[in-house]
Amino acid sequence: MEKKYELVRKAYDNAYAQYSHFKVGAVLVMKNGEYILGSNIENASYGLSNCAERSALFQAFSLGYRQDDILELVVIGDTARPISPCGACRQVMMELMNPTTKVTLTNLKGDKLELTVEDLLPYSFKDEDMNHG
Ligand code: THU
Repeated sequence: MEKKYELVRKAYDNAYAQYSHFKVGAVLVMKNGEYILGSNIENASYGLSNCAERSALFQAFSLGYRQDDILELVVIGDTARPISPCGACRQVMMELMNPTTKVTLTNLKGDKLELTVEDLLPYSFKDEDMNHG
């Protein structure tokens, strides 16, 4: 199996999802050949939970990577169709990734849907929207 799919499954297994029992894994494939894993991390105060996609992106930025360093984001969940990222994660992807960067959505059955960040969030709110006028 391709390394990115092995690693996204590992991130899925690492999820801390004892409240929803819905595990999600994400992996960022970096242009330098590194992989950065993210899992959903829940909390007894439910609203503090963090999605897998944001865990991976925040880790990448914490390590010093930036938008242009990211080749692809892969996400996995135990869903009937390839997992659909939540709206909050789509907004964060739009800020922390390039709009044309590939996002591969998958599930435990191996179904795959390849999109870009901008496919996931058309007509998005961006920083330049605040700098007009
Ligand atoms: N979740 C993710 O981590 N990513 C998604 O794309 C969908 C939802 C998490 C949040 C929460 O921990 C659990 O899945 C149930 O919503």
